[in-house]
Amino acid sequence: MKVGIVVGTTREGRQTPKQAQWVATTAAKLEDVDVEIIDLADYPMPFFAEPISPRYNPNRVVDETAQKFLDKLAEQDAYIFVTPEYNHSIPGVLKNAFDYLDFQMNRKPSAIVSHGTVGGARAAMHLKEILSEGKTVPIPSFVAFHGVSEGIDDDGNLSEALKANPYGPQAQLDGMLAELKWYSDALAAARAQEA
Ligand SMILES: Cc1cc2nc3c(=O)[nH]c(=O)nc-3n(C[C@H](O)[C@H](O)[C@H](O)COP(=O)(O)O)c2cc1C
Repeated sequence: MKVGIVVGTTREGRQTPKQAQWVATTAAKLEDVDVEIIDLADYPMPFFAEPISPRYNPNRVVDETAQKFLDKLAEQDAYIFVTPEYNHSIPGVLKNAFDYLDFQMNRKPSAIVSHGTVGGARAAMHLKEILSEGKTVPIPSFVAFHGVSEGIDDDGNLSEALKANPYGPQAQLDGMLAELKWYSDALAAARAQEA
């Protein structure tokens, strides 16, 4: 499984990259898993302003930076979106990136790791709806994390106390990654059969 871990914020002083690093470090330990962090800060796209909805525009001309982001998504077998909650939803910069999508994530699975005062759960629920329209397959499990600023250090290491909790974020992430791998393998086999 080639998994792209999308960092869903770009603001100065943001916390999301360290949560994404924790996810990446955990995923990289699994067998048959290649991990790539896809940071929206590296893809400063303008606000989407194409004249026709991307999936209905075979002759679309895409902003150069947005196209690089889409090409990077297309390379992956699976996705993990790491997002905080902004105003009870996902950050605008992440929604804008989704508005550029056409078929890059078609029939590939995606998962969510969120954070915020209620674990970013409201953003995660909105994101599940958006992912459905992104033509990806949102898997059932997700990780909603409260207290990222104290719970994960700047290098993406989870605190020892959280690691030791059998129902804590590490256990949830491990379960979610196993589920994502299962869906990724199953959907890759189905896509191959169809090709
Ligand atoms: C514009 C903005 C809106 C926010 N709205 C919420 C919110 O509705 N619910 C919540 O739990 N946290 C909210 N927060 C707190 C963020 O979830 C928290 O600051 C998180 O670290 C943001 O991710 P970032 O550091 O990568 O930007 C908000 C933060 C910002 C900057």
